[in-house]
Amino acid sequence: MSSKNIRTVAVIGGGTMGNGIAHVMAQGGLDVVLVDLSADVLQRAVETIGKNLDRQVRKNRISEADRDATLARIRTETDRAAGVAEADLVVEAVPERAELKAEVFADLDAHAPAHAILASNTSSISITEIAASTSRPEKVIGMHFMNPVPVMKLVEVIRGLATDDETTARVMELSKALGKVPVEVNDYPGFVSNRVLMPMINEAVFALMEGVAEPEAIDTVMKLGMNHPMGPLALADLIGLDTCLNILEVLHRELGDDRYRPCPLLRKYVAAGWLGRKSGRGFHDYDG
Ligand code: CAA
Repeated sequence: MSSKNIRTVAVIGGGTMGNGIAHVMAQGGLDVVLVDLSADVLQRAVETIGKNLDRQVRKNRISEADRDATLARIRTETDRAAGVAEADLVVEAVPERAELKAEVFADLDAHAPAHAILASNTSSISITEIAASTSRPEKVIGMHFMNPVPVMKLVEVIRGLATDDETTARVMELSKALGKVPVEVNDYPGFVSNRVLMPMINEAVFALMEGVAEPEAIDTVMKLGMNHPMGPLALADLIGLDTCLNILEVLHRELGDDRYRPCPLLRKYVAAGWLGRKSGRGFHDYDG
């Protein structure tokens, strides 16, 4: 079976990444079932997809008919078993907790068709470990999209220890068909993206904590000096400071090297509930 046979995709989790993934899959012509336990989350997810499609219409990237056809290909479902029953591919985007992923994948394995590929959008949890909670580890793979999903070209495709060549080839082919650039990497803490990105963000937080410069100054140095589209602190606010802390904890624990120790100031912000854009405040202020 090639990726041409992937017609129906179930996306598990209607948060920022889940709605972005549903958006690009539907825009690529696939039938999408967006699954979340909360009907409210699903409603907000579909509204967000609608707003992001409108933005693409305003920029003349797509027509109004494309927008309507894309939305028409997305249906929502609160019952996970029903949501994955017809899926050729499932992409999981639930919160980054290893025990939650294990529970979700055992359930996906029980309810998705035997031929279905089970992919995770995890940013740091081991694909090999996730695969071990299923009876089809050869069909389990990482499909790591970047935020904002409709804009960012990369899909980091992560092979677990047991992932087979056919599964990898189908996911690479599908990612290309969606207009993305897939890059294959092996399963190792943080993969490539966060192994390299998070130490930079963490170092920017240390620079702030040590009084080297104000947040705006740190971001401007990296934006204008290194041509990054946004500074590391603004990027941390976009990703979510709780997510950044989680990823750093995985790197620190699993690589066992103190260079990945999360900055105490990052911990303090997360403890205060200053999580970045989603909470209205992080290293920068987003109120209003
Ligand atoms: N949906 C659809 N389109 C969107 C969008 C969304 N959610 N957000 C922005 N866009 C589009 C805009 O319409 C615009 O389109 P055109 O180029 O066609 O005009 C384009 O993206 C640029 O947007 P803006 O002009 O509004 O803003 P900008 O130029 O400041 O770009 C940005 C915004 C794309 C976020 C840019 O700042 C950027 O690339 N930042 C870095 C993002 C990044 O590094 N992401 C990776 C994070 S790490 C991660 O996700 C993985 C992990 O595991 C932690």
